[in-house]
Amino acid sequence: MNLGTPNRVEHQLTDKGYVPVYTTAVVEQPWANYTSTDHEVWSTLFKRQREVLVGRASDEFLRTQEAMGMTPDRIPKYDDLNRMLRKATGWELVGVEGLLPELTFFDHLANRRFPVTWWIRKPEQLDYLAEPDLFHDLFGHVPLLMNPVFADYMQAYGRGGVKAHGIGPEALVNLTRLYWYTVEFGLIKQDDGLRIYGSGIVSSKGESIHCLDSAAPNRIGFDLERIMRTQYRIDTFQKTYFVIDSYEQLMDATRPDFTPIYASLAQRDSIPAGDVLDTDTVFNRGTGEGWAMGGDV
Ligand code: PHE
Ligand code: CO
Repeated sequence: MNLGTPNRVEHQLTDKGYVPVYTTAVVEQPWANYTSTDHEVWSTLFKRQREVLVGRASDEFLRTQEAMGMTPDRIPKYDDLNRMLRKATGWELVGVEGLLPELTFFDHLANRRFPVTWWIRKPEQLDYLAEPDLFHDLFGHVPLLMNPVFADYMQAYGRGGVKAHGIGPEALVNLTRLYWYTVEFGLIKQDDGLRIYGSGIVSSKGESIHCLDSAAPNRIGFDLERIMRTQYRIDTFQKTYFVIDSYEQLMDATRPDFTPIYASLAQRDSIPAGDVLDTDTVFNRGTGEGWAMGGDV
């Protein structure tokens, strides 16, 4: 995508106002159109999460977020963040309307472009939103793209996604679980204890506290094939979180060709979201308190 020569086809009226739509489905961040309410939502969430995440988010997440220059006073401009990001790891942010079709999403990642939803949630949605918005994407996903190892992992994931898409829907399910339990809901073991690096957690106050402080969920050591077999929750806090030792571990474990792994996983049952196996490295065996009965996906 060349932002220098946008191929604009129309302006589209959405419930968030008029936005320019390009043939690529990438949109310019309509920064001048953000209202003072939009900026306040950013500010409120930013301050609240930075406070909750002290001693909870990984050192690297907190460090990279500061290094990028995200501040509470106003919604960041993608162009400003991109100057930092391009220099650090060669990634760039592109604006999008929201969740993308799988292959389009993978193609962006494979080319070191991270799609960021341009609109931000309403003040009455501070605690929960069913789909990604600017706060989740920018606050949650973008900081670790400054880390060279994590940046490479995200690109490798995008390439792996293009490949899995060609193999078939079951392979995609396996790969999506990996994304869910690492990029979105991953924990990391530091010398001083477990910390959060998953974007779905860091952008949620409730889950930031729950995933580390509650006895209810399982906290289990990272295991690639185990994760690829494990169902997850989209409507409640996770029943299980997986813990990596380092971003290098993530990179190394996912380097092998997944094609034979997909083939062998196709012969095996999936694992319910809350189950603990004999082979698991258990940091915490969840009490299961408050778990919803059905609904694993
Ligand atoms: N090695 C994986 C494959 O062959 C690609 C991949 C890398 C997937 C990193 C996820 C994360 O498909
Ligand atoms: Co996300």
